[in-house]
Parts: sequence; C-alpha cells; structure tokens
Amino acid sequence: MSRHGSPIPMTSHACGPLSGIANVPGDKSISHRALILGALCVGETWITGLLEGDDVLDTAQAMRAFGACVTDHGGGVWSVQGVGVGGFAEPDGVIDCGNSGTGVRLIMGAMATSPITATFTGDASLNGRPMGRVTDPLALFGAQAVGRHGGRLPMTIVGAADPAPVRYMVPVPSAQVKSAVLLAGLNAPGQTVVIEKEATRDHTERMLQGFGATVHVAQTDEGRVITLDGQPELIAQNIVVPRDPSSAAFPVCAAIIVPGSDVLVPNIGLNPTRAGLFTTLQEMGADLTYENLREEGGEPVADLRARFSPNLRGVVVPPARAASMIDEYPVLSVVAVFAEGVTDMQGVKELRVKESDRIDAMAKGLRAAGVTVDEGPDWWQVTGLGHGEVPGGVTVESRLDHRIAMAFVVMGMATQQPMHVDDGSPIATSFPVFEALMAELGAQIARDC
Ligand code: S3P
Repeated sequence: MSRHGSPIPMTSHACGPLSGIANVPGDKSISHRALILGALCVGETWITGLLEGDDVLDTAQAMRAFGACVTDHGGGVWSVQGVGVGGFAEPDGVIDCGNSGTGVRLIMGAMATSPITATFTGDASLNGRPMGRVTDPLALFGAQAVGRHGGRLPMTIVGAADPAPVRYMVPVPSAQVKSAVLLAGLNAPGQTVVIEKEATRDHTERMLQGFGATVHVAQTDEGRVITLDGQPELIAQNIVVPRDPSSAAFPVCAAIIVPGSDVLVPNIGLNPTRAGLFTTLQEMGADLTYENLREEGGEPVADLRARFSPNLRGVVVPPARAASMIDEYPVLSVVAVFAEGVTDMQGVKELRVKESDRIDAMAKGLRAAGVTVDEGPDWWQVTGLGHGEVPGGVTVESRLDHRIAMAFVVMGMATQQPMHVDDGSPIATSFPVFEALMAELGAQIARDC
C-alpha cells in the first residue's frame, strides 16, 4: 500500500486490440529537476506539463519547506518563485519524500552546502534504500549525515557552512548521485567535477546550462567529466516538460504484445540516455517506428508508433545499455515472455536497489505465472513462451513499486488467464492516469475493491 491510502488490488484481463493515441504524462526526472532548480534560481520559473504524480508533488512540497513559493495553476502549469543559490531556509518539519529516490537524493544534494539542517523520510520502500551513495560525496563538501543503520532514512543532513568544491568519481552508474553532487556544487566556491564511467541521464547538466550555470562536459579516458562553476546566479526559466519515455514504455509494450494493436504515443523524448528500451524492442523484432522525428528544446523527440508484433525474438541486452533503460527492465521482461527464445539482461545490478529489488519482484511473479526466469547478482534471463502461450492466472506483489505494478498489468492484457496485482496504488507515483489511459486504448483493467 502506498502511504497515501489503502492497497488497490487490480486485475488485468486479456483484451482486444489496443488502438488510439496515448498521451502519457510529463517526464518524472525532468519534473523533479524543474522544481528544484526553479527553487534555486532568482525570479519566477514557469513549468508546463509538470508530472503531477505523487513523487513530484512530494518534491514540490519539499521546495515549499525550504522557502520557495510553489504554485499550482492547474492543467500541469506550475510556477516556482526561487530563493537563489544558497538561499534555502531551514525547514520546520521533516521532509517526507514518499516513494521517491530521485526526490530525496537530489534535494539532499541541493541543501547540503547551505548552513541548514534537514531531516528526510519516506515510505517503507524509500526508507529501505541506500543513501550512503549520496551522503559519501556530500561529506566531501563538508556536510554531515546521521541516518539509520546501513545509511537508511530517516536521516538528518547538516549542511556545510563553509563548503569545499569536490572532484568525485561516481562509483555506480547513477544519475541521482551525479545530480546530487552537481546540485551541492552549486553553492560551493570554485569548480565541482563529477566523473561518470558510463553516461547516465543528463537532464541535470542540460537544465543547469538552461538556467545559466557554466557546465562543461568532456569525454576523456576517465569517463564523462562534468565540470560546474560554483555559485552561479541561476536565472528563472520557462520550462516545457516533455512526455516521459519511461511511462511511454507501458502503452508501447502493451501494443506490441496484444494481437491487432496499433497505438500512437506522441511527443516522446528520445534522448539517447533514456531510449535504450526502444532500441532493444526494435532488435527483438517489434513493430515500433519513430514518426515525425524532430528536435524540441535541444532534445530529439518523436511520435512512437507501436503495433502488435507477431515475431518477437529474445535478445542479449548488453551492460552498456543498462543506464539508458534502467527503469524499463520490468516491462521489457514482460515483452520477453511473449518472444521466442531467451532474453538475457546483463549488467543490471542497480535493479536490485530500486523502489523494490526489481529482478526478484519480476522473477517471482513471472515464475508464478508459468515463465522460466534465471538470475544472478547482476543479470537475469527470461525464457519466452511465445504469443498465446503464457498462462498467467496468479496474484503478484507490486512491493510499493509502480513499475512492477504496471508491468504485470500490461502482462495480463495478453496472458491466457488474468493477472492480479495485489496493490496498484503505487502507480500514482509516476503515472496517475495509467488506468484511464490504458482503458481508453481498450485495456480491461479492474479494481478489485
Ligand atoms: C533517475 C535516475 C535513475 C532512475 C530513476 C530516476 C533520475 O536512478 O532509476 O527512476 O531522475 O535521476 P539512479 O540514478 O539511481 O540509477
């Protein structure tokens, strides 16, 4: 159950062809960043197309607690009156980031170089996730963290009164860690340098530049080196949030596995740091095309057209692609079930520390539904059964993880027997209109309460 209410058991039944247009909500990663940078700039930032999911609403609330004036104008239009770099006030109460690892980690970074103290908490999922990956580099700036055993939330961060700039090699492929360090570097003098061996989503770098910070990115033998000049004056912006490729993944994959389907998912960002799923689906033989390919706000954007794909085959998904589709493995594993042969997903250790251990959550549910899954610490393999051959007919656990819930709901659209998900309430964190949007396309999803 999400912290906002009771569990919502759901059943997804096999359905006829999915068809129509799927207008998925705004990008979650970009929405968090727009609110946080809006709060750190001087002047009023206007945001259009903000994702109004619980994760982002929690970040909006947190920005208010740090002193920014955040206003919902309706219809996805929001404004943020910023307090300037270094201008965060000390919150009166505990900052509750709900289910959101991105929210808590980025906000910790953003406050860690100001002379204020804040205490963070979240739901049972978030309070089980590792924060040491963020507090370790924040300590180099001079911030102190005290949390529960194993670096877990609830946790208090005492911001550095006299921060030093940092040069930090990110030890795990994580845009959240990279972003926390960059946001902390905003209020440190001199240059903060972050090095990542593998490129992860680059929304923070892009948006910092958009707000007027000086950020240089260079590809070197060490990896991708990002250099930020500290203590800039960030200038208010108008931000149009593109639609979320990680949410687009669900109607796209549903169309690919449901016979006769033909779905258009317009205006999806194809930033290479986010588009790994779509490349993988094409390699599997999916009928997925990019229409109206164009550039918007410096990002490649296209309308995705996904049709039922009768001849899917298993593929090897290489470790180098993992960061660009890290949130899409649960739904990819569902498509793999309807393919012929084995889909081998490698270099995916990070999946074990997401909202749930996503390899374990998917493997248990898929096995219960009649699918063979093999796994190791950083890999897993799904043996496809082919279209029409997947039994289903079981209840699976979503484990407070929106993407696990949606992946199994998509699966039930093409299994022989319906799929039951014990709790669909986490879907509201990232895709609050999921059920309505999928129903509009022709899905048969019922709430069992
Ligand atoms: C995100 C980064 C990824 C991703 C998450 C959003 C971000 O996490 O899984 O949903 O917005 O920076 P990691 O940075 O931990 O890989």
